[in-house]
Amino acid sequence: MLVMKKVIIINGPNLNLLGTREKDIYGMETLEEIAKKVNAEAQKHNIDVSFIQTNHEGEIIDKIHEAKGNFDVIIINPAAYTHYSIAIRDAIKAVEIPTIEIHLSNVHAREEFRSKSVIAPVCVGQISGFGSFSYILAINAAASI
Ligand code: DQA
Repeated sequence: MLVMKKVIIINGPNLNLLGTREKDIYGMETLEEIAKKVNAEAQKHNIDVSFIQTNHEGEIIDKIHEAKGNFDVIIINPAAYTHYSIAIRDAIKAVEIPTIEIHLSNVHAREEFRSKSVIAPVCVGQISGFGSFSYILAINAAASI
């Protein structure tokens, strides 16, 4: 029997505002629209996706802890926390679940503070700059892990 891979996609602060927020940088799609595309892609790969968003650092950490034993891969867009949350980094390291960091924008082509990720070193890899397609690429990466 083919076993379904379980993936949790965690979206950090302000990503609930996609579709209205800095459209020139983040595009016109809402997070809900991205979630629909992600689900369609996940089905092709026999992946069961849980897609969540929170504006709270502690909640992200709780979700990472709860992923232990429940999910095979974490995909995370930590948003601004990418650049300074040692607590999220430590949580990812602690649970030992393969994690993929993603960004809509190319964080390396923007303000200098965005090119530093404290999360990336504890991840399998980082996908950045492809808009909502970063999420689709991440599903494909998760399928291959
Ligand atoms: C982001 C990039 C971050 O620097 C920023 O704080 C975000 C979104 C992205 O997806 O491009 O909120 O993670």
